[in-house]
Amino acid sequence: MQYVLSDKEFEMFRSLIYDTCGISLGISKKELVKARLTKRLNKTGIKTFNEYYNFVTKIDKSGKELIQLLDHISTNKTDFFREKKHFDFLNTNLLPALISSKEQSRNRKLRIWCAASSSGEEPYTLAMTVFNHIKPNNGWDVKILATDISTRILQKAMDGTYKMDLLNDVPPGIVSSHFSKVLVDNANCYMAKPHLKDIITFRRFNLMTEQFPFKHPFDFIFCRNVMIYFDQETQNTLVKKFYGCLPKNGYLFIGHSETLSKTDNDFKYKQPAIYQK
Ligand SMILES: C[S@@+](CC[C@H](N)C(=O)[O-])C[C@H]1O[C@@H](n2cnc3c(N)ncnc32)[C@H](O)[C@@H]1O
Repeated sequence: MQYVLSDKEFEMFRSLIYDTCGISLGISKKELVKARLTKRLNKTGIKTFNEYYNFVTKIDKSGKELIQLLDHISTNKTDFFREKKHFDFLNTNLLPALISSKEQSRNRKLRIWCAASSSGEEPYTLAMTVFNHIKPNNGWDVKILATDISTRILQKAMDGTYKMDLLNDVPPGIVSSHFSKVLVDNANCYMAKPHLKDIITFRRFNLMTEQFPFKHPFDFIFCRNVMIYFDQETQNTLVKKFYGCLPKNGYLFIGHSETLSKTDNDFKYKQPAIYQK
């Protein structure tokens, strides 16, 4: 069915999306928003965007439709070993140094936050990278918190099952160590093995949350390819909150197309898209 999205209605959704999850959409995104929200109109049987807006903001007190709306608006592009230089840095610099200093202080805990983890490729890559240095069940307590605003994409991440071609570029030895072959709907897939899944906790978390609820700092944070959707003010606030979640010398990884150079922050630049507290 064809629906009409007026400029005024677009503006209503634009503000709602910005206020709720920080994604800043210019008028050039009107057709994209229309196409993505049309799916919800079709699904709910609601006939106009205006009625849909009222449903989301006034009628649906459960907030479930707002979650659906955000699920449809978010862009979830990701990949295994995306921006490989970050994983090279983890392998050659950060993880050996961190593990040796923690061994010395007898603190065998590693805490990693993968903020905006999308469908899981990024946290599973982090887990595989950690296992290059720490073997499963050898006395280390490793936890990766993987969060995203989209419940739909988190469900996919928790399933941990991927079409085989998504792992085409990962060396076969690495794939066979960490994934099992499974058949899903007659398609050959790989499923993450329990030792990967066991160290990752997937949770819905909105990066716009005013006070981050984490009691303990993370050794490092990955927040890649999401700040690009936020305006400068939102990025400033978020980067300050990340700073507060890291110990001295902790690292923040952002996407290579992102930069902290325009944000007001106390991080030291280490390498492209890598910053240290
Ligand atoms: C393009 S993906 C990036 C995935 C991964 N970090 C990577 O670099 O491959 C951006 C993700 O950010 C999530 N996202 C957008 N706004 C968010 C918010 N306010 N809080 C948490 N996640 C958000 C989206 O749902 C999406 O999964």
